[in-house]
Amino acid sequence: CGMQPIEGIVFDLYGTLYDVHSVVQACESAYPGQGEAISRLWRQKQLEYTWLSSLMGRYASFEQRTEEALRYTCKHLGLATDETTLRQLGQAYLHLAPHPDTTAALRRLKASGLPMAIASNGSHHSIEQVVSHSDMGWAFDHLISVETVKVFKPDNRVYSLAEQTMAIPRDRLLFVSSNSWDATGARHFGFPVCWVNRQGAVFDELGATPTREVRDLGEMSDWLLD
Ligand code: LAC
Repeated sequence: CGMQPIEGIVFDLYGTLYDVHSVVQACESAYPGQGEAISRLWRQKQLEYTWLSSLMGRYASFEQRTEEALRYTCKHLGLATDETTLRQLGQAYLHLAPHPDTTAALRRLKASGLPMAIASNGSHHSIEQVVSHSDMGWAFDHLISVETVKVFKPDNRVYSLAEQTMAIPRDRLLFVSSNSWDATGARHFGFPVCWVNRQGAVFDELGATPTREVRDLGEMSDWLLD
């Protein structure tokens, strides 16, 4: 399809490599019967709060926006909160589980010699915690946080930071995301984009299409390496 040879890969973190809904269990033990509902609204609000932060020109760390999103979620669902519970659930976000297809695919891609990075809305601390708790540090040459530019994806400055950090021209850098809004932003910036669509979701109607759509990272590595 006229794509340039790929010289490096940049992954989104939350949802793409790691399952954000692995917090369901922690939510469920804090609020029995509400785990799913909390997790779903929490993630949605977390994203909204990052986007709103950027629009308002008021950057605050991903952890802070995540905690604020959780406060909103609990209030919305009529659940009482206390600082200990909020802190415990915030901690759960630092212990996310990789998706079942993540580790094998990263191993295969790593063996191919392609440099790899994560570019995430998470703070340096969040990214490092999630990566180290899952023993995935070996996979990545760079852990790129929006903290450096103090604005969240899908702002172009974040994709540009990834391009600069990798020191590979954008048309040779594959951006991999399961988040349709993130894939859209990356595509608009000029990356070839692989959209990981595990849930059979509909891609956003924002004037961009992914370069490639796959079901999981296994299919992504097959496509890239075979
Ligand atoms: C990330 C989230 C927002 O940037 O998907 O890792």
